[in-house]
Amino acid sequence: MVEYQTISVVVEKPIATVKLSRPDALNALNAKMAHELVVALDSLDADDSVRCVVLTGSDKVFCAGADVKEMAQLSAAEISMADHLRPVWERVWRFRKPIIAALSGYALGGGLELAMCCDIIVASEGTKLGQPEVNIGIIPGGGGTQRLTRAVGKYKAMEMILTGGMMSADEAKAHGLVNRVVPTGRYLEEATKLASEIASKAPLAVRSAKQAIAGSQERGLSEGIELERRLFYELFGSEDRKEGMSAFLEKRKPNFSGR
Ligand code: CAA
Repeated sequence: MVEYQTISVVVEKPIATVKLSRPDALNALNAKMAHELVVALDSLDADDSVRCVVLTGSDKVFCAGADVKEMAQLSAAEISMADHLRPVWERVWRFRKPIIAALSGYALGGGLELAMCCDIIVASEGTKLGQPEVNIGIIPGGGGTQRLTRAVGKYKAMEMILTGGMMSADEAKAHGLVNRVVPTGRYLEEATKLASEIASKAPLAVRSAKQAIAGSQERGLSEGIELERRLFYELFGSEDRKEGMSAFLEKRKPNFSGR
């Protein structure tokens, strides 16, 4: 059992909940938290009994961004040599199982970028989302200019990133950045319910679906359709495909094994 200092991990099979926990710094993402997230996600990705992950913070804050105190000390050479936080964006983005961000309070800068590396975003109604980096003389460095633009389109992304202003959860939902807005106090419950629903489906099919959709963000249409075709054909070799189709024809619930 790994002891973490900046996060906590609770596994209630088949769901794992990873909670950011640096309350004194509004869950700001520092090198330690980034490393711990990578270690935790490596282990959860390798654990077949975990089928879906919820990534959350506290009611007050999901994450107020990269740790400004830590960054303030770094020169251009140092931040580039350290490849600032890149492993954590990559780890969340490449996580093979569905990962749901459950937001409350603030999701700013690197905090919003972390949420945008996830697959589904649930937010409580008071959540404020934004990319405030221009306020401190930098730009988003965790994929924000790219993922936010893909999520909300060029014009809204320009407005958010160039003004550094915050967006409400309802506005984020209207722009397709958030899936569900729920009353404060219910965001974790709602995310966990969604995770349970996904975890009840055929694991290999879920994984392939995620890979195909995530792939659409990095490819042109023809290449993306080729990826989908390949994954679709591969699933015909799975036991779960036989079980799912047989169960449908026999009018019973499928019993998926993840093979
Ligand atoms: N890094 C380090 N510490 C932070 C922090 C951050 N991103 N955000 C908040 N904190 C700390 C504050 O310094 C303060 O610490 P002290 O008590 O030691 O002074 C504590 O958390 C509480 O913060 P506030 O007093 O500011 O709380 P508030 O309720 O008045 O305001 C807030 C909340 C609007 C979120 C405000 O804290 C804020 O604007 N935070 C900074 C947000 C930001 O600029 N994020 C982007 C960072 S850059 C980035 O993320 C780059 C990237 O793309 C990778």
